Amino acid sequence: MDYQAILDRLHKDFIPDTAMGNVASYIPELSKVDPLKFGIYLYAHDGSSYEFGDSQEKFSIQSISKVFTLTIAKELLGKELWKRVNVEPSGTAFNSLTELEREKGIPRNPFINAGSIVVADALLTVLDNPKKDLLKFVRKLCGSEDIHFDESVARSEKKHGYRNKALVNYMKSLGNITNDTEDILDFYFYQCSLAMTCDQLSKAFMLYANEGKHFRSQEQVIDPQSVKRINAIMQTCGFYDEAGEFSYRVGLPGKSGVGGGIVAVHPQHYSVTVWSPILNDKGNSALGMKVLEDLTTLTGLSIF
Ligand code: DON
Repeated sequence: MDYQAILDRLHKDFIPDTAMGNVASYIPELSKVDPLKFGIYLYAHDGSSYEFGDSQEKFSIQSISKVFTLTIAKELLGKELWKRVNVEPSGTAFNSLTELEREKGIPRNPFINAGSIVVADALLTVLDNPKKDLLKFVRKLCGSEDIHFDESVARSEKKHGYRNKALVNYMKSLGNITNDTEDILDFYFYQCSLAMTCDQLSKAFMLYANEGKHFRSQEQVIDPQSVKRINAIMQTCGFYDEAGEFSYRVGLPGKSGVGGGIVAVHPQHYSVTVWSPILNDKGNSALGMKVLEDLTTLTGLSIF
């Protein structure tokens, strides 16, 4: 497969345009990003890699971090975790409050904010220093020590995170939150503030494209059964109320973040990250969705 020729074609065909939408602004610090940034990095199963544009520039990974925290929590808690969070698609926005009351404080899945907040709470219970452990895990996965939280993004979200405060307090009132709500949100906002490049994210996500093995050392980090489950949740819940659309158009498990990043994996083939900060009305990268649709069309490869 000539991935570089396909990426070169995508680079020529797609040009970010501010008419497509706006960058995220509900976290003021995120609104400072240049909307015209555009990069892609594909890491193939044979160890080769392909890229263009701003693929080596760090951006705020936001909700993509939910895959990392779920992976750690699943390893540490196993089936216990599923007593507190379900694995059903939500069909609602990432920060929705509506189904929590009906479903008695059990979030629909670990990728909506409510679900990831429950995962954060679970990690606070079992880890002495969740921030340090998360950094260590992500650094190991992508083989780079140069991974850090962006303090200004974390602070900015903390200051304006009214919906997340509502979610955690509501779940606390319904008995699904154990730790101090401020401590949970502090960890959650920091996990979302992780700054990474397309290169680093694609390498880290090879875990999910390589049966749980590290992209470089081939060490078995998590078992293939876990990968199967996490990929299934990415496929059905990775894009909130646009999960069906992403499945239909792209045909790969993936995860988005309001920083404009999307990571998708094709098990046994590749892991790919696109970054373009202009979002569509569902909060997913507008250009990222289109580029990945063409990538799977031009390669003729998808899981379906
Ligand atoms: O909780 C929030 O609002 C953000 N820190 C993360 C949201 C996000 O990335 C949703 N994904 N598209």
